[in-house]
Amino acid sequence: MQSGELVAAAAPSGTATTLLDRTTALKGVELTVVVPTFNERDNIEILLSRLDAALCGIEWEVVYVDDDSPDGTAAKIRALAQNNPRVRCLQRIGRRGLSTAVVEGMLASCAPYLAVIDADLQHDETLLPRMLAMIKADDLDVVVGSRHTAGGGIGDWDRRRATISNIAARLARLIVPADLTDPMSGFFIMTRPAFERAVRCLSGQGFKILLDLFASTPVAFRFKEVPYVFGQRQHGESKLDSFVIWEYLMLLIDKTVGRYVPARFISFAAIGGLGVVVHFTTLYFGLKLVSFPAAQAIATFTAMTSNFALNNMLTYRDRRLTGRRFVTGLLSFYAVCSLGAVANVGIASAAFADHYTWWASGLAGAVVGVVWNYAVSSVLTWRRN
Ligand code: GDD
Ligand code: MN
Repeated sequence: MQSGELVAAAAPSGTATTLLDRTTALKGVELTVVVPTFNERDNIEILLSRLDAALCGIEWEVVYVDDDSPDGTAAKIRALAQNNPRVRCLQRIGRRGLSTAVVEGMLASCAPYLAVIDADLQHDETLLPRMLAMIKADDLDVVVGSRHTAGGGIGDWDRRRATISNIAARLARLIVPADLTDPMSGFFIMTRPAFERAVRCLSGQGFKILLDLFASTPVAFRFKEVPYVFGQRQHGESKLDSFVIWEYLMLLIDKTVGRYVPARFISFAAIGGLGVVVHFTTLYFGLKLVSFPAAQAIATFTAMTSNFALNNMLTYRDRRLTGRRFVTGLLSFYAVCSLGAVANVGIASAAFADHYTWWASGLAGAVVGVVWNYAVSSVLTWRRN
């Protein structure tokens, strides 16, 4: 027995219309629109009515993925959902991140087609039906809304942002196909099988979910682009800050050499190298004021403290320690580095006694020291909650 017949049998008056209505109602969702939100309370309802207008005739739903916005975005979404069964709210607590929000929204959907669009009305939702038709007709994996293909545009961006975006797009060529003109786009539609192929390999870092997907898929995506012009934000403000650039570099490192060396380790070691500079600078000036042992001690603590602060801000941005945990984290970092120094000196001395050259012995000690500091601080200082 088919599901339609079942409904018809159960319905008191099995007229043709009832059968038709119920059968449509039983059809699953074809398109899930995932909308990441952070402090977008005033944009939710406008976007919803625009989606309603644009997606007429399609079985769709919208999943807003909200990272516990302090402005009450989630409550607003749930209130709208009371009157509209197409609306769902996925609220995440204690976590932030545009990429992971999009991934979890997609994972919460059962639809065969998945779209992503910003909440702030900067993307053109009226293109969605065309994008859906295209992905089906041409049997594609992804259709990308692009600002950098003929007919597209970046709206009224200032020179600085346009330049940064340009450089970022060029760097992206390292890891994605060259004919993907807007790898930073946050506006696209993809098929579920394509998503499922890539999802376990994603880096999940930062803002660039489309780039991450293209760089992570084991089989290259078949894709096309549709041009759109980036609109203006009406309410609220952008969440992109300067750290986006750093996160972007980490994503590139992760997708190029991450298979061999973790991106976090490269960041940690680079900051360690900077720490050496801090150490010698402090020592140089300290010697003008105090004795050598005192200056050396001050230099050591200054370098450890600045290393801690930088790693906390960059390497472990996603697990950043604040308030009291910043202080306890710093103390644990001192402890870890002290043991690292003991291991460093021990290994280097042993190697030197074994007749290795002074620089090879020193290098061996330093490598052991930095690996120790990285490994132990990652579980003690910046442990996952
Ligand atoms: N859940 C969640 N968590 N959503 C977030 C977060 C977060 O940490 N950060 C930002 N968002 C949401 C915003 O609420 C918005 O709906 C969308 O993600 C885009 O954020 P904006 O802050 O508006 O970014 P933008 O307009 O500056 O950036 C746009 O251009 C970039 C390329 O230059 C977006 O389209 C990006 O996706 C795109 O990469
Ligand atoms: Mn925006």
